[in-house]
Amino acid sequence: MQKNILILDFGSQYTQLIARRVRELNIYCEIKPFNKIPEDLSVFKAVILSGSPFSVRNAEAPIPDLSRIKGKMPLLGVCYGAQHLVQAKGGKVEASNTREFGRAHLQDINHENPLFDGIHTGSQVWMSHSDSIKSLPENAHRIASTEDVEMAAFQFDNEDTYGIQFHPEVYHTTDGLKLLENFLVKIAHVPQDWTPAKFVDLTVDELKKTIGNEKVVLGLSGGVDSTVAAVLLHKAIGKNLYCIFVNNGLLRKYEFEDVLDQYKGMGLNVKGVDASKRFYAALKDVKDPELKRKRIGNAFIEVFDDEAHQIEDVTYLAQGTIYPDVIESVSVNGPSVTIKSHHNVGGLPEYMKLKVVEPLRMLFKDEVRRVGKELGISPLLLGRHPFPGPGLAIRILEDVTPEKVDILQQVDHIFIQALREWDLYDKVWQAGAMLLPVHSVGVMGDERTYEKVVALRAVESTDGMTADWVDLPYKFLQKVSNKIINQVKGVNRVVYDISSKPPSTIEWE
Ligand code: XMP
Repeated sequence: MQKNILILDFGSQYTQLIARRVRELNIYCEIKPFNKIPEDLSVFKAVILSGSPFSVRNAEAPIPDLSRIKGKMPLLGVCYGAQHLVQAKGGKVEASNTREFGRAHLQDINHENPLFDGIHTGSQVWMSHSDSIKSLPENAHRIASTEDVEMAAFQFDNEDTYGIQFHPEVYHTTDGLKLLENFLVKIAHVPQDWTPAKFVDLTVDELKKTIGNEKVVLGLSGGVDSTVAAVLLHKAIGKNLYCIFVNNGLLRKYEFEDVLDQYKGMGLNVKGVDASKRFYAALKDVKDPELKRKRIGNAFIEVFDDEAHQIEDVTYLAQGTIYPDVIESVSVNGPSVTIKSHHNVGGLPEYMKLKVVEPLRMLFKDEVRRVGKELGISPLLLGRHPFPGPGLAIRILEDVTPEKVDILQQVDHIFIQALREWDLYDKVWQAGAMLLPVHSVGVMGDERTYEKVVALRAVESTDGMTADWVDLPYKFLQKVSNKIINQVKGVNRVVYDISSKPPSTIEWE
């Protein structure tokens, strides 16, 4: 695999964003914790030091060993990274007493310096630090300031080592991408050749080499990641890829049949397994959300294992793991607190004693989509909203029965179809319906009714970590609500969820 840029992570919330921006420039990069610098640095052409929640003045501050890097290859310190470079070489970093959060504007730019090529005085940058550089090391010089921060950017004399106290990776820094491009292309001379087509070529070659003639089993979910992983593997090893698509009885209406047909149309060797009954049995009388996830996870492992064992001599398990999952598990801060145990099939590889292959483990979600497009996967499939592994079970806020699933499938179907008809589907990141454990009184004709309440939820987001509710047109909500109440037996009230994440979450369970 080609490796170009190394990003050393000091735990900043923006580290992944630096990687995203570098990749937007069609340059490949990898994030490593600051204390796990790879032995072999010959594959890296430049290094970026991230920001950090720590202060360099703190006794516990993360200190990297840059002896093999600084002065030997182009190096850019961002915020904490810049302050560390200064402090380590005898400059001064102090708690700041001026405003260094939010918007600022560049001034006194050294226009000779390639880092600021094409970036003009007044250009907006985003600051987020409570420390500030007061004096530079003897062998460094300032290359830009802002109204409040004198040492906004600096360079070490006669080496390609730079520091900037603002964040080029955030979108509020107007010329941030330009600055990164200047550093990577003008200073470090890195080629901008990281494209989906190149990824496909390299990965297919690599998969052929590693897997050879062995057999691989993969669980398809109907989602983007597993589909793209399957098509890539199929391109590499053809009929030796065995896909299994399990119906857990908790999918959307018509989903199992539709998606199975699409997979077959794509030439994949896929077996559909209807295990609904087994999942309903595992969920009988279970109300607790985490227990639902566990029961579903275990049932999935059992079904998948049974099926995989019917394939003779299978040795590999393929998974659609993507980069954010990988970084999360090696981050400096350790994996974040478990709010919901999302990775419900995490136990699969150990249980099945198979070797694991994860062709997408270095890609961000939007890159997976671009690769999918490159592979000719239909935009309809690539543009699908995310759907949780435990499916409708965590949208039924009480115990799960086939009857409740049926009601929720009908409601969800009306909602999703309407989003498509009104051309709203692609403007929404994720949408779905929840069946509430509440009965409400209504009146239909002359009859009093006492039936279920459903909540509709539609959010915009980029990664599901934060989200906001979508301001859907009233007319749309009115039509959908009417249709649901008129057509779905057992529902007499519809509400719309207007909570953001945080403090709420996207799913109700
Ligand atoms: P929350 O509810 O945590 O959801 O705001 C964030 C994103 O994750 C999805 N989600 C899950 N996905 N297994 C999954 O595969 C789960 O148990 C699970 N719970 C939530 C959710 O649909 C949203 O996209």
